[in-house]
Amino acid sequence: MVAPTLEPTASQSTYRRPAVFYSTETNDHGLRFNPIKAIVAPRPIGWISTMSAKGEVNLAPYSYFNLLAARPPIVMFSSEGWKDSVAFVAETGEFVCSLVSYDLRTQMNETSESFPRGVNEFEQVGLEMAASVLVKPPRIKLSPAALECKLVEVRQVRRADSSLMDAWQVVGEVVGVHIDDAYVEDGKFNILAARSVARCGYLDYISAEQTFSFPRPPGGGNPTGG
Ligand SMILES: Cc1cc2nc3c(=O)[nH]c(=O)nc-3n(C[C@H](O)[C@H](O)[C@H](O)COP(=O)(O)O)c2cc1C
Repeated sequence: MVAPTLEPTASQSTYRRPAVFYSTETNDHGLRFNPIKAIVAPRPIGWISTMSAKGEVNLAPYSYFNLLAARPPIVMFSSEGWKDSVAFVAETGEFVCSLVSYDLRTQMNETSESFPRGVNEFEQVGLEMAASVLVKPPRIKLSPAALECKLVEVRQVRRADSSLMDAWQVVGEVVGVHIDDAYVEDGKFNILAARSVARCGYLDYISAEQTFSFPRPPGGGNPTGG
């Protein structure tokens, strides 16, 4: 199979030579698409499950997702627009982030469809729920790992001039962690076994296929990396 390409053919060449610098005020990058999400990449994907006050279940992927601190673990995801995931977390103060393995990539993508509020995406895409321990939203049973979170804050994202954007950063404290021991080797969580999926720009994703290690330089933090 020939991989689809985003490069224009000679007859549809609509872009100029790429800029070596562009201001985001004009976005005059000369490229076919805004490159910012391809530059800040790969981004881990938080597959966020939430529950409304009425008990409705929601599931959606967020690649504006990351770890902010480790002890205790603090995570965040960010929504462009007041989407159901944010609305439900704001109502009930809890969410769960399940890890996207390569095996689950198709369902992950399907759960990004904009279903009406109240539709349970687990059921829509045929994913089995598993009960969480410390929070109400379920996790994805077949995900190699999941983080149960309690809401710290929902913060409206601001620009440099302090004006508010229609973007909402949800910060949560991880209060419980699930790990499927099939993905543990030599006492370590093995992302190569999970083939963890991350988001790149455009329609692209990357899965973990290879890792390499460095010793920490002197004074460079915990020498075990743990
Ligand atoms: C891999 C992937 C990553 C995504 N990341 C984000 C994100 O970080 N922020 C966002 O607002 N939407 C993101 N989306 C789009 C949402 O998943 C989509 O709008 C979804 O319908 C939101 O669902 P909800 O309204 O149930 O929360 C992403 C979609 C995909 C496929």
